[in-house]
Amino acid sequence: MDRRYFIANWKSHFTTAEAGVFLESLKGRIGEINSERDVIILCPSFTLLDYCSRKIKELNLPICLGAQNNSSNEDGAFTGEVSARQIKEFVSYVIIGHSERRRDQHETDDDVRSKIDQAKRVGLSVIQCIQEENSFVSEEADIVAFEPPSAISTFGTGVPDNPVEVERVLSVVGDRVNGKTLIYGGSVNPETIKGYADIAHCSGFLVGSASLDASTFLSLPLSC
Ligand code: PGA
Repeated sequence: MDRRYFIANWKSHFTTAEAGVFLESLKGRIGEINSERDVIILCPSFTLLDYCSRKIKELNLPICLGAQNNSSNEDGAFTGEVSARQIKEFVSYVIIGHSERRRDQHETDDDVRSKIDQAKRVGLSVIQCIQEENSFVSEEADIVAFEPPSAISTFGTGVPDNPVEVERVLSVVGDRVNGKTLIYGGSVNPETIKGYADIAHCSGFLVGSASLDASTFLSLPLSC
């Protein structure tokens, strides 16, 4: 059975109390998911990782935890940075190279390379975001998320990319990075997801806005 990934990118949303409400309401319906096939990964802010990892264990939820970034440096004198080793205490995955970081923090391909090196050194699985078919893809990335900036709801038009175009790009990227898991992201919600569910090379979704409500997020795997 082919695995499908549903990755929630919470961005800078939620306090611990709000994350608790989300996880409690996930508990109610998570049994409807085929957890042999569907991998659910929540990626909260650093401030929530400890709390969420405890709460996921307490509620016995069949989901994984990821971070949204890690430092390009090891542990050390880097004020305000969070190293890969520090987040590895709580998570198994990390998103690296998101378009918002490239735009707002001016992250470059070199930064992305260094961050991925740090993540892999401590054994994290890397979800690398790419923006177009010719974007640099690290040999070390585990999951490659194609997210055209214009399709990201908070960034561009809020209109998902045409599934035919997504299929074409994933096929081009798939030829370049043989064997990696490819997913799509950009304005995926319970209505739009159906258009992507069956496209070749697409093994899941990176979800922003539609991941902020537990019921909406859970309805993604349930509606495709
Ligand atoms: P969106 O965000 O689903 O709200 O478009 C996706 C992302 O930024 O990863």
